[in-house]
This record gives sequence, C-alpha cells and structure tokens, in this order.
Amino acid sequence: MIALTTPYLWYSTRATGIVAILLLTLVIFLGTLVANRIGGTYVGRFEINELHRSLSIVAVIFLAIHIVTTVIDSYVATGWFSTVVPFVSPYKTTQVALGTIAFDLILAVWVSSLLKVRIKNGTWRFIHWFSWVSYVTALVHAALIGTDTKGTSGLLFVAFCAGAVVMAALWRFFGRPTRSGGRTALSPLAGAPRPTAPKSKSGSTPFPRDQRPTSKGKARR
Ligand code: HEM
Repeated sequence: MIALTTPYLWYSTRATGIVAILLLTLVIFLGTLVANRIGGTYVGRFEINELHRSLSIVAVIFLAIHIVTTVIDSYVATGWFSTVVPFVSPYKTTQVALGTIAFDLILAVWVSSLLKVRIKNGTWRFIHWFSWVSYVTALVHAALIGTDTKGTSGLLFVAFCAGAVVMAALWRFFGRPTRSGGRTALSPLAGAPRPTAPKSKSGSTPFPRDQRPTSKGKARR
C-alpha cells in the first residue's frame, strides 16, 4: 500500500469532525422542533423540516470527508473496513469503533428516510430513534479520541453540544404538546372552514366543476 501522510489530512479529520458534531447537534435540535410541532407563527413547520433535512445531508458530507481523510492518512492505521465494521481498527480500536457505530446508525437513519415512502411509518419512526443513540456514541467518540476536544475550548464545545441535545431530549420526551389541528399558521388553509359537501344520491360530486367551494368558503366564479 502507498504511504500517504501529511499534517493537512490530520487537520482535515479534526476540522470536519468538529463541524460534523456541530451540524448533528443542529439537526437533532431542528428535528425536535418538528417532532414537538413547533413552527407556524414566523417560520412554518415545513420550512423547519426542510432545514432539518438539508443540514443532515451537509452533515453526512462532512462525515464522509472526516472518515476518508482518516483512512487515507497512513500515519494512523485504521483501514477501510473500520468505516463500517466496528472494532477492526488497529489504531485506538474502541474509540474508533464508537465513531463507526455512530456512522452506521446515521446511515440507517438516512437510508430509511430516503426510502420513507416505501416503508411503513412505524418502521421509519423506529429507525429514526437511532439518531439519539448515534449522537451520544459520536460525542463519546469525539471526547475520547479527539485532539481538539482535549483542550478547554474543545471540552466547552463538547459540553455545549451535549447540553443542547440533553435539553432537546428532555423537551422532546416531557414537554411534547398535544396534537394540533395538523396545519401550521402559514398554511394557506389554516383557519379556513372545511367545506362539507352534501351527499348526492348517485355518489358523484354534488358540485359542478367550477362551483366547488374554495378555501374561503365561496364558490369560484
Ligand atoms: C457519526 C460519526 C462520527 C462523528 C460525528 C465523528 C466526530 C469526530 C470528532 C468531533 C472528532 C474530534 C476532532 C478533534 O477534536 O480533533 C473526531 C476524531 C476522530 N475521528 Fe471521528 N467521527 C465519526 C466517525 C468516525 C469514524 C467512522 C472514524 C474512523 C474510521 C473516525 C475517526 C476519527 C479519528 C481517527 C479521530 C481523531 C483525530 C485526531 O487525531 O484528533 N471518526 N471524530
């Protein structure tokens, strides 16, 4: 195998690891906002959900760079298998394995979300719970193996991320509001009375095509 090492690979591993943790913290926080049905006054729940999804893609890109720069840097021997199979890295076996487990769980969450329309909602929700486990595992990985996480500012950073996610978890489990009407205040149909169509004997729609009630409750002209 060709030996490839430069301090820039190591810097990249460290920088992308820190950015990935920061993004994952934001992703979990936004996901909690969506799950707890926050949004509607200034920003709709749809927009928060879109931000949650987009940031998760950016987080996975940073993770991919973090992992590739780790593996191709021959200064420490981790090996390609350690990217998906835990406990096979000759370098810091347990600490790297925690990162691998976190990455595997994130992949499961990500793939299940890509297949969301093809799998049962209950299955998707069950797999989505893995994101909490994945986050904790990733944070322990970072705290145990990181160079920057050993310093005071690094420790403060880890504590800040952990604190934000603990608050989100507590709020998610204990502060969950009851189910709303299912529409956000930004929805164009929010607050509009639902048109109730009288039943016709034939079972077909009672309104001629261009006289159906609109969201304002009046027939179209
Ligand atoms: C969800 C998955 C992962 C996350 C969020 C993550 C995040 C991090 C963070 C934040 C650090 C600390 C950076 C520093 O303080 O210097 C770190 C370090 C490290 N990670 Fe990961 N990591 C993940 C997966 C992996 C995997 C799968 C591997 C190996 C194949 C890996 C290898 C390393 C190594 C070798 C270091 C030490 C870098 C140094 O010497 O400072 N990580 N990771």
